[in-house]
Amino acid sequence: MKLHRTEALSRERFGDHVRLRYRWDAPSIEPGRFIVARAGDLSAGLAPFLPRPFFVHDFADGVASLLFEVRGAGTAALADWGADVNVSEPLGRGFDLGGIGDGPVALIGGDVWVAPLKLLARRLALLGVSHDVYLELPATASETYVDLLHRAYPSATLAPTDGGPEAPRTVLERVGDLTRYRAVFASGPSEMLAVLSEACAGRIAAQLALRERMACADGSCFGCAVAMADGSYARACVEGPVFAAEELARPSGGVTIAGALP
Ligand SMILES: Cc1cc2nc3c(=O)[nH]c(=O)nc-3n(C[C@H](O)[C@H](O)[C@H](O)COP(=O)(O)OP(=O)(O)OC[C@H]3O[C@@H](n4cnc5c(N)ncnc54)[C@H](O)[C@@H]3O)c2cc1C
Ligand code: FES
Repeated sequence: MKLHRTEALSRERFGDHVRLRYRWDAPSIEPGRFIVARAGDLSAGLAPFLPRPFFVHDFADGVASLLFEVRGAGTAALADWGADVNVSEPLGRGFDLGGIGDGPVALIGGDVWVAPLKLLARRLALLGVSHDVYLELPATASETYVDLLHRAYPSATLAPTDGGPEAPRTVLERVGDLTRYRAVFASGPSEMLAVLSEACAGRIAAQLALRERMACADGSCFGCAVAMADGSYARACVEGPVFAAEELARPSGGVTIAGALP
């Protein structure tokens, strides 16, 4: 995996979250694709961290951004002001915007998984596709993170929840009648994706951005395998991370949506 050293333009902290902006020389980036990133001097070798995967949060005028939660050593290093940032090219398969006409479509996100919906909303606006954004807001979210969401998604309907088992259904209730939409694009915790997938099945096309754990991120290790409806397995880093809901396996008792952070 080739990493490119890039200039970090800003790092803004919102509670446990960081928005990192960096220069990226490309005409566009497809929403839903991801990059892998690593802080530090690459000439010092791979230690201490392998690059970590992140959705591209936004991109405009040669500036890309990531929005991530600081969880462990890799994200803490990326959040550290002054550290070099090394990023890959955008990877994987993003949201498929074919067949949605001029909408309307629903963008549904939950908890800390809202990152890829910003670039998607930007692209839909450019294409003239009408869209509504619904975001679950867990009670644990800091004030600064809530403020960030308000600014990043100004027209979003925010659905505050206590983060409990009913949280995904709370968001769905806010969406109301799904059939008024031509498609649903979702990025959220596995429980939310499972509930959405069930609600959309046979009624409306849904695309789900998964966060399956990754190692190589280039298709060679099969560590990110996702079970498919036809009994095969797909690599989230190459054939995903965005999948049509009906592509994914739905064993009895519910949908298996891998890739959620605990
Ligand atoms: C395609 C993709 C896109 C992602 N986009 C974003 C994003 O936009 N914003 C964001 O905040 N995070 C995103 N993530 C998750 C992010 O990659 C991890 O939080 C990060 O790798 C943690 O690295 P770390 O070194 O800080 O922590 P580590 O020490 O590596 O991990 C901290 C904890 O998180 C767990 N963990 C790490 N990655 C995953 C995972 N994928 N699934 C389940 N548990 C995990 C570890 O087991 C450990 O318990 C994405 C993941 C994938 C696969
Ligand atoms: S992470 Fe290695 S094949 Fe996807």
